[in-house]
Amino acid sequence: MKAQLLELETRALKEIDAIAEFSELEAFRIRYLGKKGQLTRFVKQIGRLAPEERPAMGKLANRIKKELSDRFEQAKAALDSPKAGGRASLMDLTLPGRAPVRGHLHPISRVIQEVCRIFSRMGFRVVKGPNVELDYYNFEALNIPRDHPARDMQDTFYITDNIVLRTHTSPMQVRVMESQKPPVSIIAPGKVYRRDSDVSHTPMFHQVEGLLVDKGVTFGDLKGTLASFVHQMFGNETPLRFRPSFFPFTEPSAEVDIRCVMCKGTGCRTCSHTGWLEILGSGMVDPEVYRFVDYDPDVYSGFAFGMGIERIAMLKYGIDDIQLFFKNDMRFLRQF
Ligand code: DAH
Repeated sequence: MKAQLLELETRALKEIDAIAEFSELEAFRIRYLGKKGQLTRFVKQIGRLAPEERPAMGKLANRIKKELSDRFEQAKAALDSPKAGGRASLMDLTLPGRAPVRGHLHPISRVIQEVCRIFSRMGFRVVKGPNVELDYYNFEALNIPRDHPARDMQDTFYITDNIVLRTHTSPMQVRVMESQKPPVSIIAPGKVYRRDSDVSHTPMFHQVEGLLVDKGVTFGDLKGTLASFVHQMFGNETPLRFRPSFFPFTEPSAEVDIRCVMCKGTGCRTCSHTGWLEILGSGMVDPEVYRFVDYDPDVYSGFAFGMGIERIAMLKYGIDDIQLFFKNDMRFLRQF
């Protein structure tokens, strides 16, 4: 056995001297030092020798094992070193690292959050409702009967005769009033859908609806609330105006314009040379709507408003194409 061990040692040392690659080195380790390696096999046999032979043979095997292990570590270190042209030479530790890309909220999500934060601070509660909506809530109970010309204003996606993809967030007014008595003050953000697609329209977009009903609510409250919103959203100095308008579910109705954010009112393409930009629709809740939810219009009054989030975002960030929000082009999204 002694001769065999010494022969193994000579052979192994000759082999390891010739090794120039990691894969060969690893094969060497397995061949001699592994669980079923040649040296390991000898060590296992030592137990079967006569007792007086065991100590010397054990000592010899251990010495060879340590020698081969040491040489293995040395060879590995040598292959690793840059001088040997090993792995380490492929690494330039002075290069700057690659930072992981940090994600962030989509600009539409950000504007929704900001609108909700502003109105939450004024005491409005955030509520959400279904995108697939009954005709009743989307039109009927908002004083838009089947033959009403206002239904033509909205190119509706119909699911069935009386189920639609909601064309606005206004149905949430009815859903909330139906489920609770005044005072109510809610805002309802969410997706809405219309058959429309060009630089200023997408078939899906976002709105935020607002509603406040209580005893003694006036148009003055509406003006104060929306003026405060505009100033928080677009800056304290932003002039705004209320322009008479019509909506079937509010009377009187008004649209709110802000001074053009692009030209500061001198007139440009964005504002069609009017100096003003429309940002939302609003008005005092029409008594007809109260009829559907069993509120007494002689006791309660309130206001409602609705705004398009993409429009607010376009004005706030100076974006001229609404489609950009939904193309998921990283070059666009990274700017926010
Ligand atoms: N629902 C309207 C639209 O989509 C916006 C609107 C106008 C909402 C007046 C209101 C309102 O609550 O009072 O164009």
